Amino acid sequence: MRFSYVCNDCGKQFETHEVMYTCPSCAAETTNPGEFRKGNLIVTYHKEDLQKLTGKNDLTFYDFFPYPVPDKDCFPIGETPIARPKRLSDRYGLPNLSIKLDSALPSGSFKDRASQLIAAQAIAHGENKIALASTGNAGAAMSCAGAAYGLEIVLFVPETAPVNKLMQSVLYGATVVPVKGSYDDAFALSIVYTDRFGGINRNTAYNPMTVEGKKSVSIELFLQLGRKVPDIVYVPVGDGCIYAGVCKGFMDLHAAGLIDRVPKVVCVQSTQSNAISQAWQTRSYATVEATTRADSISVSSPANGRMAVRYIDETEAWSTEVTDAEILDAQMELTKDAGIFVEPAAACAWAGLIKDRNKLQQEFGKDVSVCVLLTGTGFKDMAVFDGRVTLPDSIENSAEAVVKRFS
Ligand SMILES: Cc1ncc(COP(=O)(O)O)c(C=O)c1O
Repeated sequence: MRFSYVCNDCGKQFETHEVMYTCPSCAAETTNPGEFRKGNLIVTYHKEDLQKLTGKNDLTFYDFFPYPVPDKDCFPIGETPIARPKRLSDRYGLPNLSIKLDSALPSGSFKDRASQLIAAQAIAHGENKIALASTGNAGAAMSCAGAAYGLEIVLFVPETAPVNKLMQSVLYGATVVPVKGSYDDAFALSIVYTDRFGGINRNTAYNPMTVEGKKSVSIELFLQLGRKVPDIVYVPVGDGCIYAGVCKGFMDLHAAGLIDRVPKVVCVQSTQSNAISQAWQTRSYATVEATTRADSISVSSPANGRMAVRYIDETEAWSTEVTDAEILDAQMELTKDAGIFVEPAAACAWAGLIKDRNKLQQEFGKDVSVCVLLTGTGFKDMAVFDGRVTLPDSIENSAEAVVKRFS
């Protein structure tokens, strides 16, 4: 589809199909490390092109993409399951509750959605190399897509990044470069790399195609629900890139005339990493200290913070903050009472829904339809159970031992 870019902050339109990262003037304006970056770009389409999709019968989310995705089945994205967790619906009095299991994507996290479109962008521009900075899931997802498409991935990581997620990237064959510094330092070095050695830069939010790829979840959900959308969607938020992608997908459906209202998309953050939530409440775009145990959403200076705040307003939603204890309880509840095993960052969205449940029933009625987006599998971070769960002792290999154990 024909596309252009518009700056999230000054609204300037860039009519180009070249690879573009940020609005030059707005990006140059934010030099203060204490505030959220400016100048992120939004991919936009001609309204007539979107409206042509209204009558299409075999619609897929690929119809809403700026680049064609080659060999889709070699890195299969989409059709992630929708669970209807009966025990939890009954417990919380929400009969129209669904859970979108994006933990079922190939690398085990939602980030595969962005990585597929970035791979398509690289292929469309004749590039074979993609560089990025990540502390975990984005790096693993891009490395996974690189393995599938035969692309070279160069991954800059803070040397303190969680070992499990890094190991995944090494196994997929990426060139992993640990950096003696923070995620922000790795982010800056990945840009030095692409400026000097070429290739596409996939840094989250910095490359506008990351938000654009993530919007596929909303279009997929709309199709899976029989061309309907839920009233409310819960999303876990760190940098605000997944959040913006979810909103953008619904907004494109709305612009195409396929839905008559955009769902409320609730931004859920940890109280120990709440920069976007605080910015939404105070209208001050200040960085915060992030200390949450949910490492994938532990972000001091959210890379897509300004756009996320804008979309909370545009979807007429709100932000909900939950404590780390609530996140870990939510993770256990999903595991034990729904058979859904996700990492703490994903469980944050479920914790947000539990916190809001009375508000939902009071303001929207008990039949309100709610979808919770779960973004990463629990196997990503088994260390979170250290000291919380112990494996049972072995028994002797004898019938007597069985009887003794259960008497
Ligand atoms: C599993 C998981 N959930 C949620 C998020 C938050 O996404 P974002 O940083 O775009 O807000 C991430 C980001 O890494 C993640 O890996």
